[in-house]
Amino acid sequence: MSDRETWTTRLGFILAAVGSAVGLGNLWQFPFKTGANGGAAFVVFYLIAVLFIGFPAMLAEFVLGRRTNVNAVDAFGELGHHGWRLVGGIGILTGFWILSYYNVVGGWVLRYILGSATGAYFGDPGGYFGAVSAGPEAVLAQAVFLALVVGIVALGIEDGIEKATTVMVPSIVVLMIALAAWVATLPGAGAGYAFFLSPDLGTMVDNAGSIIPFAVGQAFFTLSLGMAIMITYSSYVGEDDNLVFDGGIIVVMNTLVGVLAGLVVFPILLTIDYQITTTTGGPGALFVATASGFSSVPFGRLFGVVFFGVVLIAALSSAISLLEVSVAWANDNFGVSRPVLATGIGVGLFVLGLPSAWDTAWLTWFDNFAYQLFLPLSALLVVVFVGWVLGEDAVAELRQGTGGLGWFGPVWLWALRLVVVAGILATLGLGVETMFL
Ligand code: PHE
Ligand code: NA
Repeated sequence: MSDRETWTTRLGFILAAVGSAVGLGNLWQFPFKTGANGGAAFVVFYLIAVLFIGFPAMLAEFVLGRRTNVNAVDAFGELGHHGWRLVGGIGILTGFWILSYYNVVGGWVLRYILGSATGAYFGDPGGYFGAVSAGPEAVLAQAVFLALVVGIVALGIEDGIEKATTVMVPSIVVLMIALAAWVATLPGAGAGYAFFLSPDLGTMVDNAGSIIPFAVGQAFFTLSLGMAIMITYSSYVGEDDNLVFDGGIIVVMNTLVGVLAGLVVFPILLTIDYQITTTTGGPGALFVATASGFSSVPFGRLFGVVFFGVVLIAALSSAISLLEVSVAWANDNFGVSRPVLATGIGVGLFVLGLPSAWDTAWLTWFDNFAYQLFLPLSALLVVVFVGWVLGEDAVAELRQGTGGLGWFGPVWLWALRLVVVAGILATLGLGVETMFL
């Protein structure tokens, strides 16, 4: 495949991967679950999960992609028995499935930018969410968001995804820092920081059984693992890149944005005395809770536009990574141009997303299926393949570009083979239990 594109720079790859990783998981789930599960104590669990489970699993996906320089299905086919192609297929389908409702949420974000500018939700934040999150309005907004995603992916790796994320990711970081500085002046700032950052060991111990599998699941979701994204993005990377270093930067940046999000969200919520519990974190919570906040702080409209603008950038840069997974597969296999493929797959996504756009109950159903079953299953199979089937070959590929791995090589391999597998099995067990039992 001589005309297959590559990233123009190493930074381009890193920023595209960070763009994928940074999303609603960081801006909402991370601060929220932290607040509801014992504050700083949860952060400790989460960091352990990211470092010992998410990071090694991310490197496993990188190895598959860079070794083969093809899409996820064919990557498995080149390295293993052809039956393993099914694993790549599950990853691609998982990404397609998730993107179908991710677009719907992206549409809500568009509506909230408009609603902030005009003050449309100021009188009744809950009612506004109900109106824009379901029915024909949500379908229309979904279509607009999806069109943006298709447009970027249609332009290709260098001119589309790399150019877009090179602007988007620094914007996210700069705007989040500006927002954090701004909310520091609100009356609820001190209480917000205390809620987010002070450890509550009691909550942590009481809930350890559910926190640990949850922290593992969150580590996979937040790093965009288990949906063939990192396999696909690393398939455009050259042999002289240091994948361990790149992966480390991606993990650190992703965590940084999550922490910044907590520093932005909690001072606002505590300023309006919003009640934060484990059950208020549903799909609408980001929108209703923060919108209530913007209705009652000074410069709320401007604040809202900037905040939901950041959410939009983060959601877009994640959505394009999801679409690229399907497009890469089709592009490698059929002689059809990228714009045509991106558009055709976009139409399929639009149709699959219709139930989620029509009724948030469907969106929750799609999300539960993906989060609790597809993602862990797909991640487990990838890790078993890289750890147990490729084994030392995987270590050799990871070593390329690092100038030697030292102790890290065997530690990575055995972490994959045992720790990561055990961690995923725990999440999968919990998922099966909550979905079916
Ligand atoms: N990693 C993203 C986040 O933290 C979520 C995501 C899921 C991105 C699926 C792409 C695909 O929000
Ligand atoms: Na993330």
